[in-house]
Amino acid sequence: MTTNTPKRYTVTAALPYANGPVHIGHLAGVYLPADIYVRYLRLQNRDVKFICGSDEHGVPITIRAKKEGITPQQAVDKYHELIKQSFADFNISFDIYDRTSSKIHHETASDFFLKLYNDGKFIEQTTQQYYDEKAQQFLADRYIVGTCPKCGNENAYGDQCESCGTSLNATDLINPKSTLSGEPPVLRETKHWYLPLNEYEAWLREWIVDGHKGDWKPNVYGQCKSWIDQGLQPRAVTRDLDWGVPVPVEGAEGKVLYVWFDAPIGYISATKALTPDWEKYWKDENTKLVHFIGKDNIVFHCIIFPSMLKAHGDYILPDNVPANEFLNLEGDKISTSRNWAVWLHEYLEDFKGKGDVLRYALCANAPETKDNDFTWKDYQARNNNELLAILGNFINRAVVLTQKYYNGAVPTRGELQQYDKEVLEVLAGMPMVIAAHLERYKFRDALSELMNLARLGNKYLADTEPWKLIKTDEERVKTIMNIALQISGSLAILMEPFLPDSANKLRAMLNMEAGMWANAGSDDLLKEGHVIGTPALLFEKIEDASVEAQVQKLLDTKKANEMANAVVEPAKENITFDEFSKMDIRIGTILAAEKVAKTKKLLKLTIDTGIDQRTVVSGIAEFFNPDEIVGQQVSILVNLAPRDIKGITSQGMILMAENADGSLAFVQPSKEVKPGGTVS
Ligand code: MF3
Ligand code: ZN
Repeated sequence: MTTNTPKRYTVTAALPYANGPVHIGHLAGVYLPADIYVRYLRLQNRDVKFICGSDEHGVPITIRAKKEGITPQQAVDKYHELIKQSFADFNISFDIYDRTSSKIHHETASDFFLKLYNDGKFIEQTTQQYYDEKAQQFLADRYIVGTCPKCGNENAYGDQCESCGTSLNATDLINPKSTLSGEPPVLRETKHWYLPLNEYEAWLREWIVDGHKGDWKPNVYGQCKSWIDQGLQPRAVTRDLDWGVPVPVEGAEGKVLYVWFDAPIGYISATKALTPDWEKYWKDENTKLVHFIGKDNIVFHCIIFPSMLKAHGDYILPDNVPANEFLNLEGDKISTSRNWAVWLHEYLEDFKGKGDVLRYALCANAPETKDNDFTWKDYQARNNNELLAILGNFINRAVVLTQKYYNGAVPTRGELQQYDKEVLEVLAGMPMVIAAHLERYKFRDALSELMNLARLGNKYLADTEPWKLIKTDEERVKTIMNIALQISGSLAILMEPFLPDSANKLRAMLNMEAGMWANAGSDDLLKEGHVIGTPALLFEKIEDASVEAQVQKLLDTKKANEMANAVVEPAKENITFDEFSKMDIRIGTILAAEKVAKTKKLLKLTIDTGIDQRTVVSGIAEFFNPDEIVGQQVSILVNLAPRDIKGITSQGMILMAENADGSLAFVQPSKEVKPGGTVS
């Protein structure tokens, strides 16, 4: 652990795969906490580089390209731009958002491999690997799925089980299947280079298990320890694929670097692309390297990449890897393939100017220690009951009253009462309290302290009631308003990492220069006589209708998924024609329909069958409005023995088609048929 203030910081956020847009799970887990941290460091005047970019290699990309019928390059071009833009619109303040298909990256990754190769850090091994004979391709990583030997998840990938986080080799999978052809693969010989992680085990134990106990988050530390305790195996760092960084040695035609070998080197390449000074951000012991990632990335950032850096020898190691757990959405795991997500670019379209509200809701509910659930109801409540009712309300009172009583000039403080002193004391301590949480990657706690300051401001005004006091004690009101303005000014600084747009608005309202963290907490931040700007609303109410529309969108997605995934029932046993001809099916017309009292599902129908007019009770009330079906034609089994249903004799049965979502439809003739027409 770095105890003294480091000279500079290199902060990375996991490079997202350029195979789809960014969703709220990515934001809550990685990009938002990283951005809050970096903004805080900048306010502390620290030298920091915030590095990210698109991860453009690996099987996820080629699978996506195939699905969309485009080349991998076209796929990454499309998603790189989309992701980059939505991050920018969400105020994620990367110093660079690079990409791993860049020339600099290819060179950097290639050189890194060569250095390890030349230093004899790899072992070369020819082994049997899975091959898809139909697709004529080796099956790396996500091209193969099977049952996880650790947890039994049937959809574990060839390199990792996303259920339990275990990092796997494809040959560990039980019942492996190719995702290209769906067939079981065969084994074929191929040569690859391996990083012998077993040789780094003792060092990793010393560095992590002994060295980072207590300062790495328990979820991260625990995972690392358990891997190390289980014993590490050599890990292949090359693949038989045609998309990636070519392996730069002889005898490696048709092979590329494993995506998890090249991607983290992307952090280094991006820093190179950012500044000619890049080396001090990667090679100087006084630099603090911090990786923000999701929990599925822990093994790669804590075990594999550090071993690569160690093997190389020139680089510093991460000081911390504050990985978050996962965010679920409305009770269900977020999933790109099932479209179960709130996509950032769509959110920013639907909620224009409300980036901060999402930042707030995601941070307040961040999955820091366990998986958490995002719901639109919580989102709405966070905005209406917290941002608007607490923070917005306090600022509004302070600014509006200052304009009203003093034409916007900060009034002079008189003698302080005990209450004033207490409030100023809490204010003075707040920057330290919030900073302490941020330094320990406790973003929820930090945000909650920020809100406590707004709460304190609100309470102070509610208790002292300057709007009443103004009639009897103008001097006292000056003191109260001065203090309320000092709190407002500090809030403008302290909220910047969390709510950058709102902080800008508030600064404009207070006519304040951009302050540094050290300025916050002061009882003299806004000088007496300083003239503030005009009031504006920081937040606005979010109505039921707008969140209900989002919930509806998700329900539609769920329905579409059910339809897409519904399994068709297998055919029944064969029957003879004679057996079929026993059924007398006719076309009839509905003459009348009404709900059967005290039931949810039953309709009583009167049908003109051509033969007669008869009553049929049918369990279709959930799907049809009685008024709307009169006049429609249906197929009816007329020789089904009559049955009593809820005291009504039902003569026959209406034939219904069941849809994949369980809804029902009539089986109707394609043109009108005279009632009594036979169906055969
Ligand atoms: N693309 C990976 C993912 O989304 C993360 C890569 S992080 C890096 O899980 F270290 F490789 F860059
Ligand atoms: Zn598993």
